[in-house]
Amino acid sequence: ALISLRQMLDHAAEFGYGIPAFNVNNLEQMRAIMLAAEKTDSPVIVQASAGARKYAGAPFLRHLILAAVEEFPHVPVVMHQDHGTSLGICQRSIQLGFSSVMMDGSLAEDGKTPTDYAYNVNITRKVVEIAHACGVSVEGELGCLGSLETGDAGEEDGIGAVGKLTHDQMLTDPEEAAQFVRETHVDALAIACGTSHGAYKFSRPPTDDILAIDRIKAIHQRIPNTHLVMHGSSSVPQDWLEIINEYGGAIPETYGVPVEQIQQGIKFGVRKINIDTDLRLASTGAIRRYMAKHPAEFDPRKYLQESVKAMSDICIARYEAFGCAGQG
Ligand code: G3H
Ligand code: 13P
Ligand code: NA
Ligand code: ZN
Repeated sequence: ALISLRQMLDHAAEFGYGIPAFNVNNLEQMRAIMLAAEKTDSPVIVQASAGARKYAGAPFLRHLILAAVEEFPHVPVVMHQDHGTSLGICQRSIQLGFSSVMMDGSLAEDGKTPTDYAYNVNITRKVVEIAHACGVSVEGELGCLGSLETGDAGEEDGIGAVGKLTHDQMLTDPEEAAQFVRETHVDALAIACGTSHGAYKFSRPPTDDILAIDRIKAIHQRIPNTHLVMHGSSSVPQDWLEIINEYGGAIPETYGVPVEQIQQGIKFGVRKINIDTDLRLASTGAIRRYMAKHPAEFDPRKYLQESVKAMSDICIARYEAFGCAGQG
């Protein structure tokens, strides 16, 4: 059944677990997530980005998610719009039947330029008013995702700041977070703690100077009843990087957010953990390997099935690691 983000995160907070929120763009990702959720008895958050809407079209995405709800009626599903950068975008998603939207007012409508606090509060509050009138949840964001190593915002198109960010911009301030939640009434708050979108988060396994789990703790102590969201939370599995590179890929050395660090975050109020890159890596690795080993094969279902299996295994591992398994 389709439920709101608020409902799902309230349950997660009550029982002390976190829920991975996977990006969806196509049938294979959707099936991989649902198969994993069914197998582990987990609740599901699927989210559609601006890039996904551009790739698949909003109606296809919507029906893809509704098809999942129809095929797996016993699995609770949140249909979430990821990184909306305007009131209009959020309104259209609400109209399409999304049960949750993210208003990312930390960036301007271009999805690149950092904004100031007043802009963010103002636009987020407007989205909350409209969404709540429709029973739809809202995730806001305070702070800019970016690398504490380099000051770069990460490499996803459409959702990353231009130029360099300051250290302060990349770490959400606990006091400001408290004020933001009080002034906007968001259901969940995305915070910045040194993670960034994409595969190139850290040039070395992260230590606490570049991945500030302490900051999450400080925010949680200040606003213990707010559901926190971690973006850029792919772990960038080294085994998949090796498989990709073994079968013709060329991905340089890079590191993501270790699952153990996310588990720490969950102890400090993180309830929604955004993951996109890990499924992309698993899918690409599985397809590269299959094609290299079966050069005469040309039925897309053969290699896409490998992709579904690889993505589903990642989903199962995250559901189990985040304490989500058995909570569906
Ligand atoms: O929000 C970040 C996700 O990785 C979405 O990326 O806009 O390329 O679909 P995308
Ligand atoms: P990753 O690129 O780490 O998977 O993060 C995805 C994300 O934050 C989507 O909003
Ligand atoms: Na941001
Ligand atoms: Zn994100």
